[in-house]
Amino acid sequence: MNRRHFLKTAAALAAASTLPKWYLDECESHAATPQPVSPNDQPSFALVGCGGMGRGDAVSASRFGRLVALCDLDANRLSGLKEKYPGVATFKDFRELMERDDIHAIICATVDHWHVLVSIAALRGGKDVYCEKPLTLTIDEGKRLVKVARETKRILQTGSQQRSDRNFRLACELVRNGRVGKLKHIDTVLPAGLREGPFSPSPVPEGLDWDFWMGQTPRVDYVKQRCHFSFRYWYDYSGGTMTDWGAHHNDIALWGQGLERNGPTTIEGKPLVEMIPGGYTAASQYHVEYTYANGVTHTCRSTVDDNPSGGVINKEGQHHGVKFEGSDGWIWVTRGSIRASQPELLTEPLPSNALRLYVSTDHMGNFFECIRSRKQTAAEPEIGHRSASLCHLGVIATRLGRKLQWDPAKEEFVNDKEANGWLAREMRKPWNYDAV
Ligand SMILES: NC(=O)c1ccc[n+]([C@@H]2O[C@H](COP(=O)([O-])OP(=O)(O)OC[C@H]3O[C@@H](n4cnc5c(N)ncnc54)[C@H](O)[C@@H]3O)[C@@H](O)[C@H]2O)c1
Repeated sequence: MNRRHFLKTAAALAAASTLPKWYLDECESHAATPQPVSPNDQPSFALVGCGGMGRGDAVSASRFGRLVALCDLDANRLSGLKEKYPGVATFKDFRELMERDDIHAIICATVDHWHVLVSIAALRGGKDVYCEKPLTLTIDEGKRLVKVARETKRILQTGSQQRSDRNFRLACELVRNGRVGKLKHIDTVLPAGLREGPFSPSPVPEGLDWDFWMGQTPRVDYVKQRCHFSFRYWYDYSGGTMTDWGAHHNDIALWGQGLERNGPTTIEGKPLVEMIPGGYTAASQYHVEYTYANGVTHTCRSTVDDNPSGGVINKEGQHHGVKFEGSDGWIWVTRGSIRASQPELLTEPLPSNALRLYVSTDHMGNFFECIRSRKQTAAEPEIGHRSASLCHLGVIATRLGRKLQWDPAKEEFVNDKEANGWLAREMRKPWNYDAV
């Protein structure tokens, strides 16, 4: 390839991976998220779960609300963040927050297996909730959370921020308006998880309440790799990257089909590597096939190496993201980039009568805006639940190793007692849905 040709190709690629001008102009015209006009206009909020994501969420939410309390069952995490927010109250037990009338909203950035119990307690306590993704640990949890949110009429935003990202909204709007022709197939590529071990137990670090951390999950000896951050690679606490990243990209797969309150009809999955005995237990590399009642097929697969950084890009440079393939072309979207089989699929503006999707330009801002307006958020409870369900279905199919039939209306497997036994997990006492 000569230099001129190389530069031309590189320029064409760059042009194809940025947002088209007509859409950028349109985005400019969207109203910015309203900013608080005075301290009285800032709802007070508490952060439950002061780990990596919780810290980020606290910064993000402080643009719109007043952080008044921090809660974590690890005193080290709590004291670390208290240094940054010296005036705020600290708590070990989230249940105490629910009794306080001066707390309006809860941000739940705990490990996945605590999301629903904390969120239900908060909703019942009259709080609005921003809960990190994946919204749930099980499909049963999701059904119950949706019900409680409806009953209590509180606001809930799921922390799947790709719903407030311009690239993903454009991809879904184009697909929903037939830009790729008849949608035939969706490919979601997720980063491979970790495949490491075996691990050995060690003394529980001072300040960490390990029993409380385990909550509803089976009691086991403390193992460092089970706890902060790497909990996501254990089936007990999560579904591996299938739920961790699937909560983002599979959510887009549903949005692009208009099935965000629905689901697939069949699921078949397999792990691609065996897990190491005594090591992480959630499949690190996998391949799942879904079909939908609309005839669309959907592959959800991991990248295929053991990249210790979480496999965001594998050896072949294969990136995580979502590809919508139709009769007239394809659109690929990931964070910060959108590409299409033909540039016109992106550059041609949508007609004025096109179907348009929920516009949110700031995911946390959308939550605070909805606290005021009492409108549904960009990732309201059913959306968060169904996206997580799609991932849980993939995890269940992978673990069962056979094709499963799913009824998305009843949210049950069809005539399959064994598979239906995987919709909920037994909760370790004393934890249950009435944690408060
Ligand atoms: N939206 C995103 O892009 C994004 C990115 C990263 C993480 N996340 C999500 O955020 C959540 C937290 O992830 P992380 O990487 O910060 O994990 P982490 O392990 O670093 O932090 C979780 C914190 O929650 C605390 N905790 C656990 N149970 C608790 C309870 N019952 N009450 C109070 N505190 C409790 C832990 O002690 C820990 O400090 C996960 O669900 C993850 O999926 C979302």
